[in-house]
Amino acid sequence: MAESDKLFSGSIPKFYDTLMVPLIFAGYATDMAALVAASSPGSVLETAAGSGVVTRALAPLLGANARYVVSDLNQPMLDYAATRLGSDSRIEWRQADALQLPFEDASFDVVCCQFGAMFFPDRVAGYAEARRVLRPGGRFVFSVWDRIEENAFADEVTHAVATVFPHDPPRFLARTPHGYHDIALIRADVGRAGFASIGIETHEKVSRAPSAREVATAYCQGTPLRGEIEARDAGLLQLATDRATEAIAGRHGEGPVAGKIQAHVIVATG
Ligand SMILES: C[S@@+](CC[C@H](N)C(=O)[O-])C[C@H]1O[C@@H](n2cnc3c(N)ncnc32)[C@H](O)[C@@H]1O
Repeated sequence: MAESDKLFSGSIPKFYDTLMVPLIFAGYATDMAALVAASSPGSVLETAAGSGVVTRALAPLLGANARYVVSDLNQPMLDYAATRLGSDSRIEWRQADALQLPFEDASFDVVCCQFGAMFFPDRVAGYAEARRVLRPGGRFVFSVWDRIEENAFADEVTHAVATVFPHDPPRFLARTPHGYHDIALIRADVGRAGFASIGIETHEKVSRAPSAREVATAYCQGTPLRGEIEARDAGLLQLATDRATEAIAGRHGEGPVAGKIQAHVIVATG
């Protein structure tokens, strides 16, 4: 993984939250919130919380006395998340690397992490940290995207942007968000971290947007793909976005667009 893959800062938090979140994250966040809340946990740690889409879905489902610590590596994402949520005394915002959590052993009933594990430089270490801060019997609930070919818009954007940089195509989307999808590997990594019971389900959804341009702008300008394009030639960001728009419109039409998305949801205990 390139160092820039985990840089969610600058204008990315706003583009991410306003364009990417409704496009592909919000539906899975609703499901994750329900899954976490199902056991009525008294304390929850969320890692890699980003701009807070799970936080906004989960907070209303937790008890009045619950403790909810919401963390992310990048402070700008948390700052943005805090602006989207009203004041809530149960929530503690905390900048934290999921691989080095600043919490005591056995302090949470649930650790949850939506679409963050792909960014961990050492996933077994990240999962072991989650296990360390879980109380005995606690649950680690997380999700990762399936392979890029199962996620239509990400795949089409990657191919379209490659036409702008044919000798050095930006591969962020394939390499990182969609680079950790092998169920056997995920199960082995979670087991190596010490979890005894591991359930993995694959969930397909449909991603919708008002236009192809909105999808292209979301991926090209609201994710670290933006940094990858700008590192090659900042003047070509608009051209890359235009090429992605044309590719998506060519496949899905000029009006509102819809494409398949697919992810793995993992629940580990013990
Ligand atoms: C694709 S976003 C997902 C955000 C959010 N969970 C959601 O569903 O919208 C990935 C997030 O992982 C965070 N991240 C990357 N590496 C991390 C690490 N080592 N520890 C904690 N967060 C990390 C990034 O800052 C980013 O906010």
